Amino acid sequence: MELSKRLEEALNKQINLELGAAYTYKGMEQYFREEGLPQYAHFFEEHTKEEIEHAEDFRNFIEDVDGHVVYLPLEGVSTEYSSPKEAFEAALDHEKMISASIRDILEIAIEEKHYAAENFLRTYIDEQVEEENLFRSVLDAIKHAGEKGAAPFTLSQILKHED
Ligand code: FEO
Repeated sequence: MELSKRLEEALNKQINLELGAAYTYKGMEQYFREEGLPQYAHFFEEHTKEEIEHAEDFRNFIEDVDGHVVYLPLEGVSTEYSSPKEAFEAALDHEKMISASIRDILEIAIEEKHYAAENFLRTYIDEQVEEENLFRSVLDAIKHAGEKGAAPFTLSQILKHED
């Protein structure tokens, strides 16, 4: 099932967003490394790998429908946050932006009756529910532990998700 130019461009943009998420989380990993918080750093190290897998998943889908893959430029990312809470708030916002982008592409797929793309994208609608919930859970644990602190017990339970 051939891709329209519009759908192909949107899917390629999503590869860039997923790689951008990986890069953003690499920056967050670095922030936590420099703060001396290895558990959080490990969380972002592992999540970076997950984002690269998402990018590869979109790449594979484009290939499967005989499309052309483009790797667009990535912007620089921050390694500086004022607190763990701020870093996780930024991560949750990032996930919400990714969710919105997937919804937009799904709307194009529906409009163009590209059923294969629709099925593929719906798996990512579900994935994004998990992603947002994961970051929200860590954020809630941090909030309960206080602005600057960590909640080691709750966090270690949540962070197991990433191992
Ligand atoms: Fe691939 Fe966290 O969205």
